[in-house]
Amino acid sequence: MEKWIDREEKTILNTYNRMPLVVSHGKGCYLYDESGKQFLDMFSGLAVNALGHCHPELVREGKKQLEKHLHISNFFYCKQGIALGEALVSRSFPGKVFFTNSGTEGVEAAIKYLFNIGKKKGRRGIVSLSGSFHGRTLGALGLTRIPSVSKDFPVADYPVYEVSRRDLGDLESLFQKERPVGIILELVSGSGGIEVTPREDMKRISKLCEKYEVILCIDEIQTGIGRTGKFFAYQHYDLTPDMVIFAKAIGGGNPLGGILVHENIDGYFLPGDHGTTFGPSPLSAAMGRKVLEIIDEEFLVTVEGKSRLLMEGLKDLQERFPESIGEIRGKGLMMGIEIKEDPSKLKDRFLEQGVLVNIAAQNVLRLLPPLIINEEEIREFLTVFESCLKKSKTNESE
Ligand SMILES: Cc1ncc(COP(=O)(O)O)c(C=O)c1O
Repeated sequence: MEKWIDREEKTILNTYNRMPLVVSHGKGCYLYDESGKQFLDMFSGLAVNALGHCHPELVREGKKQLEKHLHISNFFYCKQGIALGEALVSRSFPGKVFFTNSGTEGVEAAIKYLFNIGKKKGRRGIVSLSGSFHGRTLGALGLTRIPSVSKDFPVADYPVYEVSRRDLGDLESLFQKERPVGIILELVSGSGGIEVTPREDMKRISKLCEKYEVILCIDEIQTGIGRTGKFFAYQHYDLTPDMVIFAKAIGGGNPLGGILVHENIDGYFLPGDHGTTFGPSPLSAAMGRKVLEIIDEEFLVTVEGKSRLLMEGLKDLQERFPESIGEIRGKGLMMGIEIKEDPSKLKDRFLEQGVLVNIAAQNVLRLLPPLIINEEEIREFLTVFESCLKKSKTNESE
């Protein structure tokens, strides 16, 4: 392991604080290191591996596509992309898709689309909620409202109006006065610490969007493709967005993202307005189509059941360890647990016991397990969590 860590230090720019784990391979909900030690993966590559590692149907689909072709360019029709686009529309609302290679590129596409709408309407600004993460490229970074991420990098030149996620304040006056072209928001914040937007707030936002013709764009990059128990998280709410941004889980582990634009606002991208060499990679699209086939309505019901089981277990631990666990939030298999002790020590304890967890917003244990996780694996996680909490207690009293 040291050998690889050493080689990385000499070769790879240091932009991540990695966990001391060199992965050999993965299977189902587990990753394995070079010595064969297994680790229960409770954040699935930050919500990418919704179907776990090496899902047999995905592997089969990928191999099939590898033998056909990998790249054809946007000069030709890509059957795999068309089929995936149709499947996405059938799971959401009538509209059209533009494919990208990542989430942040999806956000960039959304910003450009909004910009084209704004040009027609004489509007420019976009509303974002505090604590939002929408990516790190210089258009998306303007909408990312986490100071430790946005830092003091210059961002693309368009007005961004930040509204507090926990108190929308006088949103109507903002809409009236500034006349933004759109609002882009996460319904459950990912990096912001798993804050769930309340139904009443969303009702208010969508009503005001309608009244002031502000385009409602939901960033479903982390919440989408079944993560919250619905195909898209907006389906928990009584609304239809004008635009959805997706990425992460859709590619089945391959880089893939994009935007879904409602037919009501079709026509604002013309040839030459936007593009990307790989959008979409036929391999990513073919595997994406398979991901959607597997994550059907029946599958989503199982996510709800697992979510309840996990939440019950977490609430039980919260009752027994109130000195360590604060608020528990989330939807489906996207959960956040406020940690009242040193979260990095807790993370290390999990690692020692063969469980991989992620910390968001400094003190929130962010759980994004593969959606295929079973009851036994959920119990394994809860048992290890309990043991970690007991260890904290022992250390405290020493
Ligand atoms: C809600 C949300 N938006 C945007 C992004 C950026 O996506 P990517 O890292 O694929 O560029 C992420 C990534 O974590 C995300 O969670």
